[in-house]
Amino acid sequence: MRPLRLATAVAFLLLAACERPPMDSVQQGYRGTGMQRVTNPRVAEPVLAANVAPEALAAATPSGTLARDTFKNVKVLGDVDAAEFTRLMLAITAWVAPEQGCVYCHNPAAFEDDSLYTKVVARRMIEMTRHVNADWKAHVAGTGVTCYTCHRGRPVPRAIWYTAEGGIQKTAYMGNREGQNAPSHVVGLTALPNEPFSAYLRGPGGSPIRIQAGLALPNGNFGSIQQTEATYGLMMHLSKALGVNCTFCHNSRVFESWEESAPPRVTAWQGLAMVRDLNGTYLEPLANTFPAARLGPQGDAPKANCATCHQGAHKPLFGASMLKDYPALAAVALPAPAPAEPAPAAAAPADTPAAPQSATPLGKVMFDVGKSDIGPDGQKAVADAAKAMKDNAAVKVMLSGFADKSGDPEKNLELAKQRAFAVRDALKAAGVEEARIELKKPEFVIGGVDADARRVDIVPATP
Ligand code: HEC
Ligand code: HEC
Ligand code: HEC
Ligand code: HEC
Repeated sequence: MRPLRLATAVAFLLLAACERPPMDSVQQGYRGTGMQRVTNPRVAEPVLAANVAPEALAAATPSGTLARDTFKNVKVLGDVDAAEFTRLMLAITAWVAPEQGCVYCHNPAAFEDDSLYTKVVARRMIEMTRHVNADWKAHVAGTGVTCYTCHRGRPVPRAIWYTAEGGIQKTAYMGNREGQNAPSHVVGLTALPNEPFSAYLRGPGGSPIRIQAGLALPNGNFGSIQQTEATYGLMMHLSKALGVNCTFCHNSRVFESWEESAPPRVTAWQGLAMVRDLNGTYLEPLANTFPAARLGPQGDAPKANCATCHQGAHKPLFGASMLKDYPALAAVALPAPAPAEPAPAAAAPADTPAAPQSATPLGKVMFDVGKSDIGPDGQKAVADAAKAMKDNAAVKVMLSGFADKSGDPEKNLELAKQRAFAVRDALKAAGVEEARIELKKPEFVIGGVDADARRVDIVPATP
């Protein structure tokens, strides 16, 4: 009797570290590869409950005037109708500062005043949100993001990170611990380096996320044990942030093989590049704007990782799109129509360049699946762009071609190029000199699966 009781007690003790059933699994790879997603409804339920999108505010009746003409100091949302602008302010308050209200960002005596840091940060956040929705479709698709995706009703999103207090620990005889044995939740309380983000997500040009060395012999730190540990630490974060296991993206027989990986790994790869861009371009540079209390131990600004948007779901809010109800956050609006009468030359300061400085697209030409010939809508977009270029002789344009991710990647690259050529030829046929057209291969040629991925952007080239 005794040994049996002991065995039962030991069994319970060992099982205490496991999840209580019921377990469920969804197969996603080929049979026999073990590529399945294991779920437990009891664990999944709170995540589901935490990822429900709030209802959209009732639509506003357009006022007929733009925000920039109605208010005094609108720098980003100027092209939005004033009524829609006010509706967006109400939504932003509910998303970011529901308890604090408008005064979290505004001086109530003068809404145009920029003296609160929160308003300055919020303005940059509006630009960042528009940038994600317009330029990172390869990751966020048409679903897109709003402030709520990250903020969820609080001024500081739940998941942010700072560069950890690192450095060599001089007193310990083991030297640099590399952040190990200081368990943190981001790496699932394992002994892996507890801050795997600085190396990979701080900005463009992070370390390669690799465990295999490129050469058989030692070569720098690349492929070293530290690199491997940091890679696994980052991968723990990816899995936890999305609420999935490794086989959601990998075949665990060969983690590195792209051929045997599941499609979400490609989306995740785009996600890594996007997070670097958001941290490097938008969040890090805000270090001087934030008060000291918001900065990390190394004086760096709070930054984003996968959990900032995903919060335990494989798609933030399980794929619900709030963006469709707030088009102002998607808009990268066309340039305002040129004034009918050219401004008198004397009025303009001599050093004002005539060409637009921003990269607001002049037009977008869409294509059918697998096609590079321009349809009627595309012809109209080309004609509009050609007219805008005739009206402003200083404007030069850059053409970038894109393709969707269906079919053979090699062919898609070629297709994207042919599309750019087709638009160049159409512009020339409409009377634009070739010298004013530049072809530029975009950083990410292959987008998602939707129609928007099959396009050529016509963008003013900055002089
Ligand atoms: C999270 C920060 C934030 C909150 C909360 C917020 N706003 Fe704003 N508000 C901004 C930013 C940023 C701008 C400037 C936008 C731009 O430059 O495009 C702005 C601009 C404005 C303007 C234009 C002022 C001018 O003359 O230039 C008005 C009016 C306004 N907000 C009203 C409100 C109201 C009303 C509320 C509360 C319901 C509110 N805002 C809540 C960030 C916020
Ligand atoms: C990709 C995620 C993300 C999105 C989308 C996003 N934010 Fe943020 N936001 C952050 C992070 C990260 C911080 C830094 C947190 C901190 O202040 O410590 C932040 C900080 C802020 C702050 C400063 C809060 C404070 O108390 O310091 C404001 C205000 C803000 N965001 C407004 C907005 C608005 C308005 C939008 C939508 C137009 C928006 N954010 C969209 C990630 C995001
Ligand atoms: C959401 C998708 C996703 C999940 C989940 C995920 N990974 Fe990854 N993993 C990636 C991507 C993307 C890369 C490649 C990054 C790069 O090349 O920049 C990668 C790279 C790796 C590598 C490096 C392979 C090489 O080329 O040397 C290893 C090892 C790895 N992952 C292991 C894991 C483990 C272990 C888990 C579970 C704890 C996991 N991954 C979970 C997407 C994922
Ligand atoms: C700015 C917010 C944001 C950030 C940050 C972000 N994602 Fe996403 N991600 C999204 C959105 C929105 C979608 C849904 C797109 C759709 O509907 O297809 C998505 C989709 C995905 C998918 C596809 C899931 C599926 O079921 O097909 C993967 C995988 C993914 N993200 C991985 C990552 C990883 C890994 C990171 C961190 C390196 C990351 N994401 C960071 C917003 C974000």
